[in-house]
Amino acid sequence: MELSRFGRKITAKTGILSLMEDLGKAVAGTKRYYMLGGGNPALIPEVCDLWRRRMREILDNGDQFEKMIGRYDTSKGNQPFLEALAGLLSREYGWDISPRNIAVTNGSQTAFYFLINMFCGTYPDGSRKKILFPISPEYIGYADQSIEEDSFVSCIPMIEQIDTTTFKYHIDFSKLDSVDNVGAVCVSRPTNPTGNVLTGDELTRLSAFADSRKVPLLVDNAYGLPFPGIIFEDAQPFWDKHVVLSMSLSKIGLPSVRNGIVVAAEEVIEALSASNAVLSLATGNIGQVIMEPFIASGEIIDLCKDVITPYYRTRAYRTIEWISEALDGVCEYSIHKAQGALFLWLWFKNLPVTTGELYYRLKERDVLVIPGRHFFFGLAEEWKHRDECIRINYAGHEAEVREGIVRIGEVVKELS
Ligand SMILES: Cc1ncc(COP(=O)(O)O)c(C=O)c1O
Repeated sequence: MELSRFGRKITAKTGILSLMEDLGKAVAGTKRYYMLGGGNPALIPEVCDLWRRRMREILDNGDQFEKMIGRYDTSKGNQPFLEALAGLLSREYGWDISPRNIAVTNGSQTAFYFLINMFCGTYPDGSRKKILFPISPEYIGYADQSIEEDSFVSCIPMIEQIDTTTFKYHIDFSKLDSVDNVGAVCVSRPTNPTGNVLTGDELTRLSAFADSRKVPLLVDNAYGLPFPGIIFEDAQPFWDKHVVLSMSLSKIGLPSVRNGIVVAAEEVIEALSASNAVLSLATGNIGQVIMEPFIASGEIIDLCKDVITPYYRTRAYRTIEWISEALDGVCEYSIHKAQGALFLWLWFKNLPVTTGELYYRLKERDVLVIPGRHFFFGLAEEWKHRDECIRINYAGHEAEVREGIVRIGEVVKELS
């Protein structure tokens, strides 16, 4: 089969493809894997119960079910959902937004495909622009989304060693000024893969930087506030006229409904709505109909505060204890400060092999993790650190995560 340039780029053996293939093997295969890769959220009983009750309510409410599954909605999203969300965000955070500032996409992954390609590549005057990722590592899912080659630039962060086994990345602002031809600035907060939460000060400075370049600041809030609230420290969400804030229904427990949400200036929303129409006609309705009453009543905020946030916080800290049981005295390691998201980011400081090689050795022991290299796209310089880290998802079954970590300890011990 002969493919176009676009065809070749999108079918290449990308990091995100191997991640999803691993995920598929773990879910569908006959072999048992200790699944510490992938981005599945936890199945939290109280939350699952809520979705089940809501589905029953929809089924029993006249023709609501038929309308939900039997009608294309608009290419912007479901109007009651848009109104409920605009109301919640204005009430909670005092943002000056209306439903015209919100678009739903079929997953926030798709939203980023649109946004990245709207703000990088070749412009009508022939100039070329790039997406600036001010702090590397960043979400693996962006790495292969640009249609044009060489469209990303990212910066090595500063590393604060908090104690012997905890560190944190910070943006090195001295690196940003020298980057030219920026089409947009992009961060995830909380960050996938590290669990970093950029400080309010870092965000304010990034926002001022983007504004001074007259480009949007894309903030990927897939794990943040007001939902799913997988954030363990005091942090406020951030929005402004030039900020494009992305949210998702996935990490609250509905990854299968494939709904992402973008909050932005009206011209960005119109552009996303047009893109939705071309690529998918309309957005999937099921997640929006399930969520609408919880958003309208504000109940979703209590669910996050009372159930979701504590659940992940407890799991993250417990997993750190298991890691220290498995690795203390075995190798020199450090874990990124766990501030949010579903992941822990482990830095092995003196392994005799790369974490790419470690990934294969772990796979032989039926443990799936994600090697760090995939998350360091857009760097101009080589950096040894990119072969020294792995990402683990701690949201799976407790016993599975724990055994996976024991096996990581065993494999690392054999190597040391
Ligand atoms: C930071 C981040 N952004 C976006 C996505 C895409 O999520 P979805 O398309 O399920 O909304 C993910 C998924 O893992 C993510 O971690």
